[in-house]
Amino acid sequence: MKIISIGLFIVSIVGLSVFAMPAQAEGQKGVIIIYSSRYGSTAQTAEWIAEGMEGKAVAVSVKDAGDLGGYGKVILGSGIYFDQLHSDMIAFLETRREEVSNKLLAVFVVCGTPPDQAQGYLDMFAEKCKTKPLLMRAFNGWTKKELLSPEDYKSLEEYYKSVKEPFENYDNTDRAKCLEFGKEILEKIRDVK
Ligand SMILES: Cc1cc2nc3c(=O)[nH]c(=O)nc-3n(C[C@H](O)[C@H](O)[C@H](O)COP(=O)(O)O)c2cc1C
Repeated sequence: MKIISIGLFIVSIVGLSVFAMPAQAEGQKGVIIIYSSRYGSTAQTAEWIAEGMEGKAVAVSVKDAGDLGGYGKVILGSGIYFDQLHSDMIAFLETRREEVSNKLLAVFVVCGTPPDQAQGYLDMFAEKCKTKPLLMRAFNGWTKKELLSPEDYKSLEEYYKSVKEPFENYDNTDRAKCLEFGKEILEKIRDVK
C-alpha cells in the first residue's frame, strides 16, 4: 500500500511538472542580441547593451547565431558601410527572417553619421526585417585605420578627400548611451508582459 502511494505521488509530481514546464520555460527564455561588425565597434556596442540589460541578454556575432529556439526575444545590430547594412546581416535576414520577425524587440545601427541623422539607416533595417521593432536606435562607432582592409582604407581615403575632411582615427562610442538603451529595452519587456 505504502509503495503504491509513493508510486502515485511520484507519478503526480512528474505529471504536474510536465504540464507546468512549457509555461515556465517560455517565461525563462532569454534575449539574444545578434550583431554584425567589420571592425569591432558594433560588437562592443552589443556587449554594452547586454550589460545594460543586467545579464538578461547574450550578444553573439551573426556568424555564430545557431538555433534561436531557446530565446524568446531577438535584438539585431549592424554596422553601416556605404549606406548599407553589413552583408552578413543582409544574408541572415534573407534566410532567417521568418524565424526572428515574431521575436524582434529592437534593432540598432552603428555608423559614422551623427545618430540624430541616421533614421534612414534604421528605417532601412526595419524594412529588411519586414516588422516594426518596438525600439530602434543609432549609435556612433569608431574608425581605426590600422584595422581597415586595404579596400576599405582606400575607399575611406577617397571619401574623405572628396568631402575635403581629414581621414583620421576616431572613437565616438558611448558606453553610457548603450547601457541606457539596454535599460530601456528591459523596461519595454516589462511593459509588454
Ligand atoms: C568602408 C566603410 C564605409 C562606411 N560607410 C559609412 C556610411 O555610408 N555611412 C555611415 O554613417 N558610416 C559609414 N562608415 C562608418 C562605420 O559605419 C562606422 O565606422 C562603424 O562604427 C563601423 O562599425 P564596426 O566597427 O562594427 O565595423 C563606413 C565605414 C567603413 C569602414
